[in-house]
Amino acid sequence: MAGPQKEFEVHPYVQFMMDKYSPYKNWIKSEGVPIVSGEFVQDVRTEPLGYWARKDCKGAICTFSDQMVADGYICEIDPGKSSKPQRQLYEEIITVAAGRGATSVWYDGTAKRTFEWERGSTFAIPLNAWHQHFNASGSEPARYFALTSQPVAFELYRDAEFIYNTNYQFKDRFDPGDVDFFSKEGKYFTEYYGGILHSNFIPDIRKINLVAREKRGKGTKNMYIHMSGGSMLAHVSEFPVGRYKKAHRHGPGAHVFLLNSTGYTLMWQEGEKPKRYDWHEGTVISPPAGGWHQHYNTGNQPCKFVALHANTAVQGEERGVEQIEFEEGDEWMRQMFADECAKNGVKVDM
Ligand SMILES: [Fe+2]
Repeated sequence: MAGPQKEFEVHPYVQFMMDKYSPYKNWIKSEGVPIVSGEFVQDVRTEPLGYWARKDCKGAICTFSDQMVADGYICEIDPGKSSKPQRQLYEEIITVAAGRGATSVWYDGTAKRTFEWERGSTFAIPLNAWHQHFNASGSEPARYFALTSQPVAFELYRDAEFIYNTNYQFKDRFDPGDVDFFSKEGKYFTEYYGGILHSNFIPDIRKINLVAREKRGKGTKNMYIHMSGGSMLAHVSEFPVGRYKKAHRHGPGAHVFLLNSTGYTLMWQEGEKPKRYDWHEGTVISPPAGGWHQHYNTGNQPCKFVALHANTAVQGEERGVEQIEFEEGDEWMRQMFADECAKNGVKVDM
């Protein structure tokens, strides 16, 4: 029986809009920093960067899987230096990959709120708030990976001056009078599926409480995170030694930042051959909209990742997750996993 057919590779209307405007793609080209495309970056800690005048530090823009709902970037601040203050009409979530420093956040005419971060710290910039990052080390660079909703802002407004220079304060999201905005303890809303963590600043994303959520396999834990009144969110997932998660697919916008262990992800579109992406700490991988993906832990420790994402990556899940049960998976996939675990002396525990 014939499988599903694609009517268009790119819809003619989308092609027309891309030919006529392409505001986001033109903007990222005009920023003059390296653009990383494809589906992943092997290591955000070592990826080559270029000078980024807008931020007065080094950076690269990560535009993965043609998602247009959220895109990433990598930023490095030199030892003893700071980034240029910036504000913007799009959301941003940051996870620190290496180094230590501080960030100040403010609106015009208000006191600055400053907090310190290090590897693993995760926070969100409140919408249109000024923010400036400082490297606290005199000898080591500091690097972070950020996910932003800038594709949406550029497609909608097509005007960088408006996006970066509008003097509006979203006080329902960030009250500059709240001295504890970035220091108050996170709150777990336990009535939601065992818990959703609301926190504007997480000192170390590796250390938050997780709850057992076994829809992707036995022993899997996770926690969803809401920050700074944003619509974008994050979640941390952990799965055991010698196991992999069920293959699944969902909407666009997920960027999976590996925090430890070693392993790989298989990704494929329906009916196509899976492609393998090996990973370790610092890899960020972004499954395309509607693409199947399956994460395999081949290391000697439980695998933990933080996924930064647009909410389009979880919408639709309430109607039932699309996933493939373990017993329906292909034999060669099981064999590949067994072979890779054997190389590391890890016992398969499926
Ligand atoms: Fe996923």
